[in-house]
Order: sequence, then structure tokens, then C-alpha cells
Amino acid sequence: MKYTVLTIFPEITDAYFSASIMARAVKAGFVEYRSINIRDFAFDKHKKTDDAPYGGGAGMLMLPEPLGLALEAAGVSKKTCPETMRQSPVRKVPGKKVIYLSPSGRPFTQKTAEELVQNEELILICGRYEGIDQRIIDLYVDEEVSIGDYVLSSGEAAALVLIDSTYRLLDRVISAESLREESFAGGLLEYPQYTRPEVYDTIKVPEVLLSGHHENIRRWRLQKRLEKTFALRQELIRRGEEAGLFDTETIKMIEEMRKNHERDQGN
Ligand code: ADE
Repeated sequence: MKYTVLTIFPEITDAYFSASIMARAVKAGFVEYRSINIRDFAFDKHKKTDDAPYGGGAGMLMLPEPLGLALEAAGVSKKTCPETMRQSPVRKVPGKKVIYLSPSGRPFTQKTAEELVQNEELILICGRYEGIDQRIIDLYVDEEVSIGDYVLSSGEAAALVLIDSTYRLLDRVISAESLREESFAGGLLEYPQYTRPEVYDTIKVPEVLLSGHHENIRRWRLQKRLEKTFALRQELIRRGEEAGLFDTETIKMIEEMRKNHERDQGN
């Protein structure tokens, strides 16, 4: 997987690629990274990359010319003909996606991460200020992605969320077992975990985890995942049911939990 990040602060994203598991993934060749500094494509002597919006309003917008040139330098061609505004048939580069991180984009989820990791290259545009000129979106962007219903001061933090949640799904970056058991895998949140010492601040590790009884541990973990998901994210359980994600054991446990919940509500 190759990540190309277009930004006016490459030092933010560069740092991420030079530490911890990501640095190892880059060294091993599972991940490729380049940052492109949009400011390098500014024309004036002050290297200006923003200006006030037409029609008035608060804040500044990123200028289209430096961003367009930075995209062309990244090897991206226009997807849309500027005269007719029709999609260009030559643009469809399989495996390459241009993404603009924006609070008005498609909500980003684990499923989006799983879809995006199928690409060979993700080209991520990080906006600053109030955003970017719409013509860049019309001409170059394949998808606008939002990481949540809140507004960040910059796209770099959002790009790093997208990068982190996708590269870890690549083969050999994280073990398949960890991926299988983590939150959202199988449509449920993760079970609680404990490590040494056995007693911390008077709280003891649940007995079942010390028992060495694998079947009981498996059942306990499933029960805990269900309880937590039921308490915090009931919509995930409904979605999992609709998508047929759960096996008969899980379905029975959900029914039991609902019965207990209704009984408790009745009291
Ligand atoms: N830029 C600013 N806020 C954002 C958000 N919520 N998601 C993605 N990019 C953003």
C-alpha cells in the first residue's frame, strides 16, 4: 500500500511514518509513503496557499492552483473535463484513490477502512482553514471522507486516522488473531483484558481467566463482548443481526440478554 499525503505541514505526517509499527512496516516494504508539500507549488514570493472565499464568510480557503499542481505532481490527472464537467474515461486508474478529508464527507467506519485497504495507493488531501476550493473536489477528488461529526482544525489528524486504521489491516502488519478479536470484528465491541499483576488496587483478575479452561474463557469473552455492546452500542447488535453476522450461540445469548434487560426494566 502506498500513501501519498498532500499537506502544507508534511512534518506532521512524516513523524507518524518514522515511529513504531508503521516505521517497521515501511522498512519491511509493506507500506510506501511520500508527502507532497502543497506550499512548494505556490506561485507568489510569500508562498501563499489560501485566500478569502468569494461571497464572503469567515475564514480562508485553500487556493486551487497550488493544490491542483501538487495533485498533478502526485501523478493524478483530472477525473472531470472542466468544460463539460463530465467524468473523464481515462481517469479511472484502478487501485488509486484521491481522498479529501472533510467533515462533510462520507462517515468513516471499520468497513470503509476494509474497503480502502484494497487500493494500491491512497492520495490524501489535507485541508487547512475553512477547506478547499470546490473545483479541486469536482476535478480531482474521488471521495470525501469524514472521520466523525466534529470539526478538526486540519485534515492531517484525520488523514492519520485513515492511514492508521487501514495499514494495520495489511497482511503481516498485525496478527490475524488480533484482528479477529478486536472491537468491531464480528460486529461487536471487544471483551475486557487483563495482564499482570493478578491483584491491582484490590481488584482481582476474573477467576475464569486464570482457570486455563479455554472453552469457559471463550464463552466468558463472548458474553462480555455482548454485554458491552448491548450497553454502549445497541445499534451494532441490530446491524449484526440484520447482516446475519452472529452464530446460533451468539443469537441465544443476545435473546437471553434482552429477556434479562426487559425483566430489569419492568422492576
Ligand atoms: N477536517 C476537519 N474536520 C474533519 C473531520 N471531522 N473529518 C475529516 N476531515 C476533517
